Amino acid sequence: MSSPISSALPSLPVPDDQAIAGRPAPVCERHGVAKDAIAAAPNRAQLWICPKCADEDRSRATRLAHFDHDQKTRAAEQQRKQADLERRIGAACIPERYRDYTFDTFPNTDERAVVVLQRMRTYANRWYEAKKRGVSVLLLGDVGTGKTGIACATANQIVRMDHQTALFITAYGAVRHMRDTWGRKGKTEREALDDLLLPDLLILEEVGANVGSDAEMTALFEVLNGRYAARKPTFVLSNLPLDDFRDAAGSPRPGLQTFLGQRVIDRFRDDGSFVVSLDWPSLRGARK
Ligand SMILES: Nc1ncnc2c1ncn2[C@@H]1O[C@H](COP(=O)(O)OP(=O)(O)O)[C@@H](O)[C@H]1O
Ligand SMILES: [Mg+2]
Ligand SMILES: [Zn+2]
Repeated sequence: MSSPISSALPSLPVPDDQAIAGRPAPVCERHGVAKDAIAAAPNRAQLWICPKCADEDRSRATRLAHFDHDQKTRAAEQQRKQADLERRIGAACIPERYRDYTFDTFPNTDERAVVVLQRMRTYANRWYEAKKRGVSVLLLGDVGTGKTGIACATANQIVRMDHQTALFITAYGAVRHMRDTWGRKGKTEREALDDLLLPDLLILEEVGANVGSDAEMTALFEVLNGRYAARKPTFVLSNLPLDDFRDAAGSPRPGLQTFLGQRVIDRFRDDGSFVVSLDWPSLRGARK
């Protein structure tokens, strides 16, 4: 005789290998029928998740997390690099109008210009070599021939290389930067000099103009000598010819050699350093 309680209960289907309450046994399309799953949780066949698929999902999730992390790291690195590049571009103080100049935008296709551009392009392309040797360049030419444009095109390429720094400053600006510390508290003259000695490349614009007193001339020499001693490349730009000359009124004028002295000029023929003459008419107002 069955007990009244047990007869009141509906009879539970016994799970077997094939079906639970008429439902087919769980089957993974990829891994087949999983008998162990039925044995472990016979009533939960609908919620069954193939353990092999679950393993795969877990490792996929781990891979995704790693990927995501790598992406974020890469993005952060990219952002840091970009910020560093922008900082170095800003610190180079390239005047606005020269900031986009490259060797390819140079308007003069004259064969002498092609030679000069090729020389400077090679310099930029082999920058690390030039930097190691301390190769400096003296760029000479009349107003408007493209000294500043070529020097800036070179610097624009160099500051886009990892960690490379440049500074564009007029000779007068450099002297003033040091003179501003004379007899004052705050930045010392040594620190001001360091500002000019530290950049990997220094472009000294308008050398031969506007430097007055002996003390100011001495400050200019400190920059040139300091960089030479530290084997740091410097571009010296000047409208003066090397040799003394007569101006339009016929008055004798000192050339750059007299202005800077033979010893300084000789260094631009040393260690691979070189002189470039921009020997063509002014490009100002010329159309490309
Ligand atoms: N790299 C360059 N790309 C485009 N234009 C240039 C470039 N270099 C020079 N120029 C043009 O030539 C003109 C004179 O060049 P600039 O460098 O100012 O001469 P300089 O310094 O010898 O007086 C500029 O105003 C500009 O129009
Ligand atoms: Mg110039
Ligand atoms: Zn599976």
